[in-house]
Amino acid sequence: MAYGSQGNLATCNASICMEGGRRLSGTVRIQGSKNAALPVLAASVLIPDTCVFWNVPYITDIGCMENLLESTGAVIEEKEGTHGLLINAETIREYRLPAKYVSAMRSSVVLMGALLGRIGEVLVDYPGGCVIGERPINLHLFGLEKLGAQIWTDKNRIHAYADELRGALISFPFPSVGATQNTILAAVTARGTTVIQNAAREPEVTALCDFLNKAGADIEIGHDFIATGKIVIHGVEVNSLHGVEYGIIPDRIVAGTYLFAALGAGGSIALENAPVAQLRSVCALIRKMGAQVETNEEADRILVRTDGHGKMKNIPFVETGVYPEFPTDLQSPLLACACVSEGELTIKERIFSSRFKVVEELVRMGADIRMLDNERVRVRGVERLVGRTVIAQELRGGAALVIAGLAAEGITTVTDIRFIKRGYQDIVGDLKGLGARISYVNA
Ligand code: UD1
Repeated sequence: MAYGSQGNLATCNASICMEGGRRLSGTVRIQGSKNAALPVLAASVLIPDTCVFWNVPYITDIGCMENLLESTGAVIEEKEGTHGLLINAETIREYRLPAKYVSAMRSSVVLMGALLGRIGEVLVDYPGGCVIGERPINLHLFGLEKLGAQIWTDKNRIHAYADELRGALISFPFPSVGATQNTILAAVTARGTTVIQNAAREPEVTALCDFLNKAGADIEIGHDFIATGKIVIHGVEVNSLHGVEYGIIPDRIVAGTYLFAALGAGGSIALENAPVAQLRSVCALIRKMGAQVETNEEADRILVRTDGHGKMKNIPFVETGVYPEFPTDLQSPLLACACVSEGELTIKERIFSSRFKVVEELVRMGADIRMLDNERVRVRGVERLVGRTVIAQELRGGAALVIAGLAAEGITTVTDIRFIKRGYQDIVGDLKGLGARISYVNA
């Protein structure tokens, strides 16, 4: 089982070893999106039928979601070697989610909305995930309570129950991605109409609505959604939802990671199956840093070139923000690249409170980075980084260390890659295909 065997890697102590200093060249195909796939798979428990998903990435978080879905009574078949998953959720009987999977992955929390919508009850431990700062779920609970769920919490557990969910007007004080998705999932089968204001605009929210509508839901999400942040959901009967085939959208964060890898190591690479429109803010930034970028939206292709430019140039200031601003998930990959670019860059992290864990490891490789305060770092580009053994402490920070290793002189070993495997199905294979000297090393 492809996702299951990835699960084994999650518990082993593998490393990635690479020799830096080689320019990248060639083409890489972008995998399906982790953050789009997880809520869409969770949504399958709402549907008393069989759904088939394509382009599902082979990453450990998907294996974890499979285990969670199976624990509720869903029957899953992997279409070996095809990135296909078949999920039959005709019989969902269990409302208690096993703590060991819930604590391994924050996205498990979106099963709350889906299970409430399907069977009216859910018992779940507080979810886990990467250590990137405070990750409360008050907004998730706010949305579900507005729809009529009764919620009891203690230190570790959340119990939610609803005889009947009812449509409501829900105005989020902050456009949380997960809370928006959870609320949509619960509202699909609620009685009456739900209006969500200040919903998260991320493409992974739109993808969830798209999937649910194909399966018989009645969700209005306008062309002006980015401006309005408004979603209207007309509740439908559970039994009117039906099975559907659905292709997971490509991963904008993986695509962005490879763009920054090309900037850090230098070279000329093409991304295939790239979500071009979703990467506008990223492409604009890397152009400002001196790279040549060609995009072709019809062909889902991005070409980035650093040839003939020498080093990239840091721009003075970048801040992360909600979509379509620069994504927090690409902040660490940008930081790694900035370490070897000319001049100074200040980065302000506005989404997560503790997303600079990678700084210490980059400094050990010779980077000149200063923490200005909890949310700002200043990087001054250095001539070269030096290969070291460094530890991945979370998903995107781990990928940033791989970028740093490709840009560094000598050998870099990134340990604890179970974090990287949560989101990148084969970062080593992809970069090797682009000419990097890189391999997995099993401890
Ligand atoms: C999702 C993505 C993650 C990405 C993030 C922001 C998935 C699986 N993960 O995470 O990769 O970095 O969006 O684009 O899709 N918050 C609260 N209360 C809540 C919920 C969130 O205060 O109930 C705060 C968080 O602490 C954080 C901010 O809101 O500071 C953004 O969180 P949110 O948009 O919910 O991100 P996630 O859905 O967790």
